[in-house]
Amino acid sequence: MDFQNEALRQKAIIAQLRERFEKEYKETGRKKTYCCVTFGCQMNARDSEKLSGILEAIGYTRVEEEDADFVIYNTCTVREHANLKVYGRLGTLKKVKQEHPGMLIALCGCMMQEPQVVEKLRKSYRHVDIIFGTHNIYKLAELIRDRLDSGSMIVDIWKDTDQIVEDLPDHRKYPFKSGVNIMFGCNNFCSYCIVPYVRGRERSRRPEDILEEIRRDVSDGVVEVMLLGQNVNSYGKNLDEPMSFARLLQEIEAIDGLERIRFMTSHPKDLSDELIEVMGSSKKICPHLHLPLQSGSSRILKKMNRKYTKEDYLALVDKIRAACPDISLTTDIIVGFPWETEEDFEETMDVVEKVRFDSAFTFIYSKRNGTPAAAMPDQVPADVIKDRFDRLLAKVQSIASVVCARHEGQVMDVLVEQLNHQEAGLVTGRLGNNTVVHFPGDASMIGKIVPVYLKSCKGFYYIGEPYKKEV
Ligand code: SAH
Ligand code: SF4
Ligand code: F3S
Repeated sequence: MDFQNEALRQKAIIAQLRERFEKEYKETGRKKTYCCVTFGCQMNARDSEKLSGILEAIGYTRVEEEDADFVIYNTCTVREHANLKVYGRLGTLKKVKQEHPGMLIALCGCMMQEPQVVEKLRKSYRHVDIIFGTHNIYKLAELIRDRLDSGSMIVDIWKDTDQIVEDLPDHRKYPFKSGVNIMFGCNNFCSYCIVPYVRGRERSRRPEDILEEIRRDVSDGVVEVMLLGQNVNSYGKNLDEPMSFARLLQEIEAIDGLERIRFMTSHPKDLSDELIEVMGSSKKICPHLHLPLQSGSSRILKKMNRKYTKEDYLALVDKIRAACPDISLTTDIIVGFPWETEEDFEETMDVVEKVRFDSAFTFIYSKRNGTPAAAMPDQVPADVIKDRFDRLLAKVQSIASVVCARHEGQVMDVLVEQLNHQEAGLVTGRLGNNTVVHFPGDASMIGKIVPVYLKSCKGFYYIGEPYKKEV
């Protein structure tokens, strides 16, 4: 398939639908609405911006309520809980649709890449109109047209793709910060993880496409970018002209007007010395690294197929801290992986004590069909897992509250993101290391980076005061 032509073809379909909708609007006097609900990670959040861009180009207006003319769930299946939530909400949506003739319901995202899910939907959720997967989101307009023309359920799932369609409409959630995909898919096959099966093989975008997107965002007012990929450290390996992630970062750093660069996620096995050096000397890369540990036990890490040991991880942390002394480290940890003994768990607790993370996302192991771990015996009993989970969480939180407070009394730059939800007269923003700060301010400050005196730390966030230089 020629993917440049494909983008043009989709734009033509968008234009046709737009015309059709405008005609309807003239007759009914009513604009059609859409609601896009996102589950899962930042990759999905970014996909939802692209879906929203297409829907708005067609002529739908965004609403937050799920009784819109077009409701789309962008799903996640990384843990069973994410999966169950979708079925629950689909049940509720059935009643809404009964009272809203003409409503369309679409499902997409990672969960749709699982054949047994689609089978169940086809059988028992006939009120769903359109089902597609992670590889063909750019086709949304075409799928809507096909549904409107055929009047029957449309299912279009691709097993994998080796191409990337560039240059379709998209709608960014924030005017001042953006998420930019630098790669898609994952080749790591950690034994517990379903992502490689539902997101396909690793594909990097061409550096010129990434740089052009960021330059365009910056000229639109963006000051902070988040570079997205399941394993950003292996960026560029499969390009016609291979390029390292560290080199890409240097090129992004040179973009005038861009103030902050973030990225996620980093796999410890691929984090290079070159990257550490670039991070150490950069003025724009934020002092924050999300470095998923998963387990502190080398024995379990081997069964997880993570390709590093406890010692490798600790040595890497030392190297990073030597180059970037003030960096905030955050992580992901899984509790209750098959075969995890009390001793293995103690190793995880030991790493948490040694590294002293700014925060850690802790997950109870969830068995995912089709992954190697799902076939492993000796699943740990639920009460044992719960007990370990509670102990880990308590340790993570008590360390985090001390670590996060290390900047109390200092003045640091905050990117103001929004008005405070709870208290009038306050705004909320983030430090370079990603810690949240609330301080007095108004809507005119949103999107600006301002110095703030960090008065007191309340566990995992700060209360601050605007800082005015004395003259
Ligand atoms: N690509 C990222 C992680 C993506 S998934 C990385 O490799 O770090 C986000 C997190 O979900 C993972 O880091 C892991 O901690 C958790 N996770 C993935 N599969 C899981 C499962 N089956 N059960 C519990 N947690 C899981
Ligand atoms: Fe899953 Fe591992 Fe890939 Fe992360 S690196 S998405 S945990 S398989
Ligand atoms: Fe979930 Fe897919 Fe992300 S499974 S975590 S939405 S890549």
